[in-house]
Amino acid sequence: MKLSGDTILITGGSDGIGLALASALAGDNTVIICGRDEDRLKRARARIGEVHTEVCDVTDAAQRQAMVQRLLQLYPQLNVLINNAGGKQPTNLLCDQGIHHAMARDLALNFEAPVALSIDLLSHLVSRPRAAIINITTGLVHLPKVEQVFYCAAKAALHSYTRSLRWVLRESPVKVHEVLLPLVNTNFHQGELPSTIRAIGPEEAARQALKGIRRGKAEVYVGKASLAPWFAVLAPQTGMGIMNR
Ligand SMILES: NC(=O)c1ccc[n+]([C@@H]2O[C@H](COP(=O)([O-])OP(=O)(O)OC[C@H]3O[C@@H](n4cnc5c(N)ncnc54)[C@H](OP(=O)(O)O)[C@@H]3O)[C@@H](O)[C@H]2O)c1
Repeated sequence: MKLSGDTILITGGSDGIGLALASALAGDNTVIICGRDEDRLKRARARIGEVHTEVCDVTDAAQRQAMVQRLLQLYPQLNVLINNAGGKQPTNLLCDQGIHHAMARDLALNFEAPVALSIDLLSHLVSRPRAAIINITTGLVHLPKVEQVFYCAAKAALHSYTRSLRWVLRESPVKVHEVLLPLVNTNFHQGELPSTIRAIGPEEAARQALKGIRRGKAEVYVGKASLAPWFAVLAPQTGMGIMNR
């Protein structure tokens, strides 16, 4: 797919990798970004220029459905959904405190929201030319980081769901892609970027992601994320050790 002349919703497009994707796509496409913080969306628009914004917490079903209704009215040509919004709750599995809350938040943001959005938009997307659903996940779907246990589990569930969706839609015009990212230097890490693995910048992550999608790859492994499935199969203990240094 060309990703040119398309109308694209990027969830979590006001910062990090979503912002880099929006910047890279805005020139040739109609791009809509959503996020919870209106000021952050305004700053993103000031930086990118030609981009539309939607205030929406994608984990809130009412807000999400209202956004979908608004988008279908305002942008009936919408044909690409990029499920990028994500976040993690640091978790210690051996400590009960806050663990149920962390699990609920990580599953809601990293699994339920992207799945619900793809379901809510599917009947519209099947009628659009060059339609696509692009889910952003991580190499950690293969080798989880135990401090981010529910984030990794939620992304692994999204990885599985994405494969099922691609299979179900294989005869339809809707293409389903997954981008599996390595460590990327963004606010996602809340100032605590791991020092054991070298991070890439969000612009480089977006560049490689879009290159893979434009080449028609179903699963786009960016940078070192491509090592994860091999370690998971050939040397899972070593892989877990590297991830959890
Ligand atoms: N950074 C990494 O190392 C890395 C590695 C692998 C995969 N990923 C994945 O890449 C994607 C982007 O991550 P990032 O590093 O760019 O994160 P980021 O810099 O923290 O940006 C997250 C974006 O999502 C938005 N967001 C968060 N919660 C939201 C919600 N409930 N509803 C709507 N928008 C929400 C944020 O805006 P508001 O806060 O204003 O809502 C922001 O625009 C995520 O799916 C992440 O799991 C990241």
